[in-house]
Amino acid sequence: MDAMVVGSWSGHKHDMLVDYVGASRGARMRWPHASYIDLFCGPGRVVERQTNAFRDGGALAAWKASCANGGPSFSDVFIGDLDQRSVEFCRKRLETFGACVHAYVGAASETVHRVICDLPRGLNLAFLDPFSAEHLDFEIILALSRLNRIDILVHFSVMDIQRNIEREAVASGARLERIAPGWREAIELSHLPKSAFINAFLDYWKALVERTANMTAADMMPLIKNSKNGPLYRLIMLKRHPLAEKLWNDVGRDDKAQKDLF
Ligand SMILES: C[S@@+](CC[C@H](N)C(=O)[O-])C[C@H]1O[C@@H](n2cnc3c(N)ncnc32)[C@H](O)[C@@H]1O
Repeated sequence: MDAMVVGSWSGHKHDMLVDYVGASRGARMRWPHASYIDLFCGPGRVVERQTNAFRDGGALAAWKASCANGGPSFSDVFIGDLDQRSVEFCRKRLETFGACVHAYVGAASETVHRVICDLPRGLNLAFLDPFSAEHLDFEIILALSRLNRIDILVHFSVMDIQRNIEREAVASGARLERIAPGWREAIELSHLPKSAFINAFLDYWKALVERTANMTAADMMPLIKNSKNGPLYRLIMLKRHPLAEKLWNDVGRDDKAQKDLF
């Protein structure tokens, strides 16, 4: 696949990723190695369904942002995807622009362990951007959290959770269990209005991250909506260092188009 077809709202996701990479320039300067990790990288190029406009995908956008204004660029870029052709396209594109690329084919829940073994010691930014929430296995976050210096930007699909939560509360579906193990025992949906389901699930997930991965979510969790104003996903920054929280919250505050949505 040469370019991935996306909705116009994906531009927002990439803009915020780019802004964060730019804002964290000073932190990268302090480390001899700064790695970018994208385990759902896609082909590195997207085309908007509505306009046919081509743009960089997340990995390319992040890499170029790290090179802007003389760097410091990421010393290493780790990419992975289930789709081999996407990985190859993405690798070639990144290499064309000078990145030192390490590429992996496979499910993120498996490639994450290989990436961690190969990572140099330093500062790390991971972008977890699956098509749907069911691929956001909690295991991926736990594995990444074992690194000392990591920020994890998560595409958290509220739409998928909304679609599945009632069914999975009564049946033994495994989709949501993979994202947030133990949620069924912790959340009693029958005690809540429907409108509170998503936030209850999200609060449980954040508490689980805090308890087991020792990371917290930054306050700003921009909600990306589709063209019909339907909620699609939140962008959640998991971090330990207060600077990451500040930088991400600033990026969110400056994001004019999304201002009302936090
Ligand atoms: C939303 S797209 C990624 C877009 C990309 N991050 C960007 O910003 O341009 C999701 C990607 O995840 C891949 N994928 C689906 N399931 C996966 C899994 N379990 N592990 C790794 N990649 C997966 C798909 O092939 C697709 O390329």
